[in-house]
Amino acid sequence: MRYVYLIFIFLVISTISILGFRGAKKLSPPLEVFDDMDRMPKYMPQSESAFFADGRTDRLPVENTVARGAYYEDEYMETGKIGTEFGKGMPDGLEISNALMDRGEDRYNIYCAVCHGQAGNADSIIKKYAVTMPVADLTQPFFLNYPDGQLYDVITNGKGLMFSYADKLSVEDRWAVVLYMRALQRAANGTANDLTPAKREELGL
Ligand code: HEC
Repeated sequence: MRYVYLIFIFLVISTISILGFRGAKKLSPPLEVFDDMDRMPKYMPQSESAFFADGRTDRLPVENTVARGAYYEDEYMETGKIGTEFGKGMPDGLEISNALMDRGEDRYNIYCAVCHGQAGNADSIIKKYAVTMPVADLTQPFFLNYPDGQLYDVITNGKGLMFSYADKLSVEDRWAVVLYMRALQRAANGTANDLTPAKREELGL
């Protein structure tokens, strides 16, 4: 029985001394049994190269080609931008209809309402529990002034603590959500002037 203890202690000591304290910092170079591909011949970005005639490592894109993922059939529809600026209005290629609004409501209530609230005013379940979470109140005048393309961009790329919804909402769905956000903003900022004269009279306004 004594040997079992001795062998056990010997194994512990030899394991620790062979493997070392992984992650511990030391000044001497590590013992590399297999080289971990830490060092290999490669070009760093923006470095020089004697191989290419112009002396640069970086190659320019081949003429008349478009990089994968960089081609947009309808740039505004897919990026929300016209050139480098966020565009205003919905993309021409999209038919604005009640069906699109309904789709936007459906997607908004699934993906956005948990944080921004069903009315868009940040009165949500998240606000109740994550008190410090700076969820944006989308009905604020600040966001009324956002171009539609910028709202689309926030959904596509996320912003600050909010992550991207590009993998959950298709391009059309994202625009549908933008459309519905506009409806929420309109609803939250309505005034008596939005009513018909008959309705106003009925309410005594
Ligand atoms: C997990 C919580 C969460 C969800 C879900 C969420 N958001 Fe947000 N959203 C935030 C937070 C937090 C911010 C504030 C971001 C910041 O400034 O750090 C924000 C900011 C925004 C803004 C303003 C961005 C700006 O420029 O200040 C818009 C617009 C917005 N969200 C739209 C949406 C839409 C549309 C959805 C659904 C597709 C959505 N959000 C889903 C948390 C969320």
